[in-house]
Amino acid sequence: MIRIKDIVKIYGDKECQTYALKGISLDINDGEFVAIMGPSGSGKSTLLNIIGCMDVLTEGEFIVDETIVSSLTNSKRQEFAKNNISFVFQDFALMNDYTSYENVELPLRIKGVSGRERKKIVLESLDKVGMSEFYKKYPNKLSGGQQQRVAIARALASGNKYILADEPTGALDRENGMEIINVLKDIAKEGRTVIMVTHNEELAKFADRIIYIEDGLINQ
Ligand SMILES: Nc1ncnc2c1ncn2[C@@H]1O[C@H](COP(=O)(O)OP(=O)(O)OP(=O)(O)O)[C@@H](O)[C@H]1O
Ligand SMILES: [Mg+2]
Repeated sequence: MIRIKDIVKIYGDKECQTYALKGISLDINDGEFVAIMGPSGSGKSTLLNIIGCMDVLTEGEFIVDETIVSSLTNSKRQEFAKNNISFVFQDFALMNDYTSYENVELPLRIKGVSGRERKKIVLESLDKVGMSEFYKKYPNKLSGGQQQRVAIARALASGNKYILADEPTGALDRENGMEIINVLKDIAKEGRTVIMVTHNEELAKFADRIIYIEDGLINQ
């Protein structure tokens, strides 16, 4: 589970400070599908990036399972992120000269998983998002919705328990957006924790819980 206690994030130096987060406390349970909503500039991405270990907090405490992540050194934190957290991005962030299969395989290669085991996990992951038949295709031959499904399969293949998504449906039409939400919901049902930032109220309603952020604070 994720425990966030009084997180403050200040960007900039003494001359010009931006309080992106002003004291956020939040617990997220295992297997929860959480949507984060709020106006532009309210701090949604900042919060997600801190949870994803891509950024560090200024004050407060951030705990994942048994690890006090906010007390880790940079290298320990990166190591922790590699083994626990996967990101899904608005623009999919797939490698264009890799096939769907190779894109999903990448995190497994980085982890040093054996060839046979890689194949099993890649095919399982593509199957979970309904993309098995497209395994040989390159991203530019796939629709946006299909590319996002491959990106989600890549996140699944890593085996990581926490899946973070910053506006994963932002570049998709309504129908494809809905399909992606259903895939994310299924992933959470299987026990992984999904945290999604979205501007889309209609899609956010499919999450187990919506957290509203305004001006760096949770708006109850
Ligand atoms: N690297 C940075 N350096 C300085 N200020 C930053 C940085 N990143 C974000 N900010 C500021 O922190 C505040 C929160 O930004 P954040 O990106 O978290 O908003 P957001 O809710 O994700 O907005 P959007 O919906 O537009 O993506 C904003 O005032 C922003 O300008
Ligand atoms: Mg943002």
